[in-house]
Amino acid sequence: GKVLVLHGPNLNLLGTRQPEIYGHQTLADIDNALREHALLEDWEVNTRQSNHEGELIDAIHAARLDGTDAIIINPAAFTHTSVAILDALNAFDGKVIEVHLSNVHKRESFRHHSYVSLRADGVIAGLGSQGYHAALDALIRDKR
Ligand code: DQA
Repeated sequence: GKVLVLHGPNLNLLGTRQPEIYGHQTLADIDNALREHALLEDWEVNTRQSNHEGELIDAIHAARLDGTDAIIINPAAFTHTSVAILDALNAFDGKVIEVHLSNVHKRESFRHHSYVSLRADGVIAGLGSQGYHAALDALIRDKR
């Protein structure tokens, strides 16, 4: 299987950005661990972070054509604002799993609504970087 892991805005600052909420791991730490996890299962993981909504949309469009089976996406703040990312995901045929490092439901009310959840097959929040691994495990088990 082949998975695209998409990270939205400000997640490039992981490790130094509000570590009490988002943890001390950097994005590179998270991506490297995911690639290793996938390799052990003979899966391929491609990772991408962007602070720009349109770049995330372009990456979703590319995934429609390059044999990507599933997308794991942490849309970050775009979760709560982006109909455009929702529309792009609706044009993608594979599985979509939405991941949030923090438990958005115990935070400000503006974080309680997700446009992306209208499309996501599964949603994981509050498990830190373990959420990405849980998502990958679910995809791998699903294909066995
Ligand atoms: C986040 C939660 C969002 O509300 C926030 O805007 C983020 C990160 C998370 O992973 O917990 O940037 O998606």
